[in-house]
Amino acid sequence: MDSFGRVVRDLRVSVTDRCNLRCTYCMPKEGLPWLPREEVLTAEEIGRLVRIFVGLGVEEVKLTGGEPTLRPDLVDIVRAVREVGPHLDLSITTNGILLPSLAGPLRKAGLDRVTVSLDSLVGSKYASVVRRRVFQRVLEGLRAAEEAGFWPIKLNCVLIRGVNEDEVLSFAELARATGYEVRFIEYMPLDAERAWEWGKVVPWHEAYAAVAARFPLIYSDGRPQPAKVYRFADGSPGAVGFISSVTDPFCSSCNRVRLTADGQLRTCLFALEETDLKGPLRAGASDEELEGLIRAAVARKWAGHRIGKPDFLRPHRSMSQIGG
Ligand code: 5AD
Ligand code: SF4
Repeated sequence: MDSFGRVVRDLRVSVTDRCNLRCTYCMPKEGLPWLPREEVLTAEEIGRLVRIFVGLGVEEVKLTGGEPTLRPDLVDIVRAVREVGPHLDLSITTNGILLPSLAGPLRKAGLDRVTVSLDSLVGSKYASVVRRRVFQRVLEGLRAAEEAGFWPIKLNCVLIRGVNEDEVLSFAELARATGYEVRFIEYMPLDAERAWEWGKVVPWHEAYAAVAARFPLIYSDGRPQPAKVYRFADGSPGAVGFISSVTDPFCSSCNRVRLTADGQLRTCLFALEETDLKGPLRAGASDEELEGLIRAAVARKWAGHRIGKPDFLRPHRSMSQIGG
């Protein structure tokens, strides 16, 4: 529990900082200097840290990147996490293009759910956002995820003014046709190229209004989560969610912490401070010592990020280096 009474239940583990796409809102086209392999936590190390977090009350683990499917041992990681947390809600966030070969093995290893990033339903536009011609492969990845039994499937769509805000309704229609939960995410100042500006943010209520004008929505209660999730009033399958990190931050109910690929604990996406867990882990720290470091870091968690305030400072790492 932190000093504001928030209890950490959700751990996001970045398993690699590498990526096979170059989304404009995340990475420069030439990529970023990748972490040397030896700096990245092994499957075994991830399993051990997750076991400690589970002992401290974590109920949900999301594996992220970079692109998590680039880890050749992702299936081993999933198995290791499942072993230490039989009851965990265990999912990954992926760009989906490697799911055709991986969905089945991941499911067998104990993964519960997948969230796929998809920012446009127009092939050419998608290609210009991710700077790769892989639209068909993402669609194949989604099919493979369904066939492997992953459900519900979530889509992440980062809305950027002048790029894809005209597709909100198409995404809502896709949600209705497929039963997916489409989550519209406000563009955050975590892009490596620092091109973010207020004018490019599509406020969540604008996307909400665009959907609700065509398809009346009902707020969906459920377990607390950063996304505001709505179902369709006419009973159609599918759902839409809005992640309002910029215009309506959910910091006061935040129950997340993050572990970077190189084993640094971050108590906020925008944190300026990190707690090194890898160093002590590799130096032979006991479970109790690691637990103490985690408790102390969580106790220091701040009230919330300062986007839009005069004292906002961007973290040095960008999204792919933190884990989304
Ligand atoms: N703003 C908002 N969302 C982002 N993501 C990556 N960079 C940004 C950004 N600058 C999203 C990805 C992925 C999720 C983990 O984070 O699209 O779906
Ligand atoms: Fe890769 Fe995800 Fe960043 Fe796109 S948003 S470049 S898929 S890490």
